[in-house]
Amino acid sequence: MSEVATILEQEPVITMNLEEAMQNRRSVHYFETNGPAITNSQWKKLFELTALSPSSFNFQPWDFIIVDDQKAKEEMHPLCWGQQQILDCSAVVAVLGDKNPHRRDAEILQQFKDNGYIDETTREAYMGAVDVVYPDEGRKIEHAAGGSSLAAMSFMLAAHGMNLATLPIIGFDHDAIVKYLDVPDDYIVTMLIAVGHSANKDLPRQQRRDFTDIVHWGKMNGKQ
Ligand SMILES: Cc1cc2nc3c(=O)[nH]c(=O)nc-3n(C[C@H](O)[C@H](O)[C@H](O)COP(=O)(O)O)c2cc1C
Repeated sequence: MSEVATILEQEPVITMNLEEAMQNRRSVHYFETNGPAITNSQWKKLFELTALSPSSFNFQPWDFIIVDDQKAKEEMHPLCWGQQQILDCSAVVAVLGDKNPHRRDAEILQQFKDNGYIDETTREAYMGAVDVVYPDEGRKIEHAAGGSSLAAMSFMLAAHGMNLATLPIIGFDHDAIVKYLDVPDDYIVTMLIAVGHSANKDLPRQQRRDFTDIVHWGKMNGKQ
């Protein structure tokens, strides 16, 4: 991008209200081919908002890899069950879940103390508690997948608010994508998200389970 373009690029502003965003966000299966690239200021806004997602102990167990090079997307395409959206979207974002966000525990728990959330005794207790809460590989994966999925949802809503289309994708060969993207052992690829511009060809949204089916009162078999 030229210097002039960078200076002229406006900071994206989201004006869509939350209900409208949630009502109208879709998993978009038909992207405009050769649609405009996502600009640097759009990426910045998207990830600044995504970073506000909640996480256990505020460990922020997420990282993202942006793949916006067409040749790279063509190389990923067969690893993603040949899904056309990988080719047509403007960029693919790999959402990584961090199985070992505790490498930052000293820094993060110090922030808890400095910001007045906990005292020194509690900080020390929490340092040890982290290993108790996430004791084994299974729990570490759950934490990585859960935390990064919340971030992924924030990302998709923010993108929708910026009139960008997204498709979350789980249909890919995990190990092959890990290898292709040079993802270290500490991480899982929770999902890919195709990002771009809708060609407005998607079918209407499918049915959702209704309130009385998904909501239970007091206990799982409880009724109101
Ligand atoms: C974690 C996750 C993985 C998904 N993987 C795929 C995928 O590989 N390919 C695809 O076409 N759609 C995929 N979808 C999209 C779903 O089919 C879609 O979200 C669902 O049908 C509801 O549609 P809506 O998001 O437009 O409301 C995925 C969605 C999620 C949340």
